[in-house]
Amino acid sequence: MSKSISPATYVRNLSPGVLRELADFLDPQEGWKRLAMDIRKASGEPRYTQFHIRRFEGVIQKGKSPTYELLYDWGTTNCTVQDLTDLLRRNEFLTAASIFPHEPTPSSNCPTLPMDELKKPQTSAESSKTEYGLPLSQSRTPEENEEETSGFSILSFNHLKKITKEFDDRPLSEGGSKIGEGGFGVVYQGYLNDEKVAVKKLTTMNDSSLQDLKDQFEQEIKTMAQCHHENIVKLLGFSNDGDRYCLVYTYMSNGSLLDRLACHNNTPPLSWSRRCNIVLGTAHGIEYLHKNNQVHRDIKSANILLDDNFIPKISDFGLTRATGHLARTMMTEKIVGTTAYMAPEALRGEVTIKSDIFSFGVVLLEIISGLAPFDEDRSPVLLLDIIEEIEEEEKTLEEYVDKKMKDAEFHAIEKMYCISNQCLNQMKNKRPNVNTVLHDLKNITSIHCAS
Ligand SMILES: Nc1ncnc2c1ncn2[C@@H]1O[C@H](COP(=O)(O)OP(=O)(O)OP(=O)(O)O)[C@@H](O)[C@H]1O
Ligand SMILES: [Mg+2]
Repeated sequence: MSKSISPATYVRNLSPGVLRELADFLDPQEGWKRLAMDIRKASGEPRYTQFHIRRFEGVIQKGKSPTYELLYDWGTTNCTVQDLTDLLRRNEFLTAASIFPHEPTPSSNCPTLPMDELKKPQTSAESSKTEYGLPLSQSRTPEENEEETSGFSILSFNHLKKITKEFDDRPLSEGGSKIGEGGFGVVYQGYLNDEKVAVKKLTTMNDSSLQDLKDQFEQEIKTMAQCHHENIVKLLGFSNDGDRYCLVYTYMSNGSLLDRLACHNNTPPLSWSRRCNIVLGTAHGIEYLHKNNQVHRDIKSANILLDDNFIPKISDFGLTRATGHLARTMMTEKIVGTTAYMAPEALRGEVTIKSDIFSFGVVLLEIISGLAPFDEDRSPVLLLDIIEEIEEEEKTLEEYVDKKMKDAEFHAIEKMYCISNQCLNQMKNKRPNVNTVLHDLKNITSIHCAS
């Protein structure tokens, strides 16, 4: 089972099966607690306080494994299987340790560096490289101040400033670099080693704190290191010198689905067949995430980016959460997401894959109607409320179909509306899972949308 695992494998990359096996050893008799108390920070202090331990303990009542929670949390520090086996051996969990290959090294007793320290940009004199577990798809010449890693490039803030014309806030059409703006920062266009890239400069906006920003930044990098799929945007690098956080992505020349549906900047309307391919690709991306026990928590048309060929790529993983091996519901103190897309349980702080399905249902309504998910000058203000209007026969679906599509077949649209209706069920258990959604969408698109 563990043949692809080496001592250098990150704990955060261990499969749910391996974690389950460990949990079988460590959940009974509070074995996990002994480990938690022995995990140290780089400074030598214990990483976990009694408060943390109680939090891990709390998950037992929800039917979850405290070992899993502990390893998930510790995994964020980029600790390796070597660190884990050392820890297990030190605490005499020899059978649990034996499920991993083990190569004792002189440094194996060193505490694992927290993520912050691992990600500090290094000078060219420091030759050590930080790994994020991603193979480099192509080798490039490192630019000034750029540290090429086996995963992402660690860039300096000043270098990103240079390639975005000093983060020129004027729109591209006016000779500036700004492409867009969201709740957590501004996105700029730039060139990195001749490749067009999008640089997202995170800034504290509205009520978000610097800690929120840092959490999102780290979550984005963690998820991007684990998730590689044709329908998921690619993170190329980042900068985090000082408190200035930037993320660098492959540039998506056709912008966001939100903007293309709104024909922002006078772009032509998306045809029905293109819309079908976009929803199918997006559903494939969600299927990949859910299969890997990740809940995106902010599925929306602004986070579906379109490449040169209008292939959709899901973006913004700063809110993503792992759900545990059975993809059960978790609770969070923080309620996050975009209200117009949020399921009732997500608004109460539950984290479940079914909330992504709900949000995807809103995206389907946007695809059909071409309308914004939220519009204060419209009745209903929330797009998802058109379902009620249609069900109560105040309006017909036909009235809501985007007239800008010339190739739409009403029969296919009705089917897509029906899927969206199921996704938008108020009761999460009555919503379909992504495989069913994908299957039903394929049925529509194979008949009506030859790509
Ligand atoms: N990789 C990219 N390539 C091209 N354009 C991008 C890229 N990433 C983001 N954008 C553009 O920048 C805009 C702002 O993105 P951002 O993620 O900051 O905000 P948002 O998705 O609109 O809102 P939120 O912050 O709530 O996610 C996007 O809507 C898109 O138009
Ligand atoms: Mg976004």
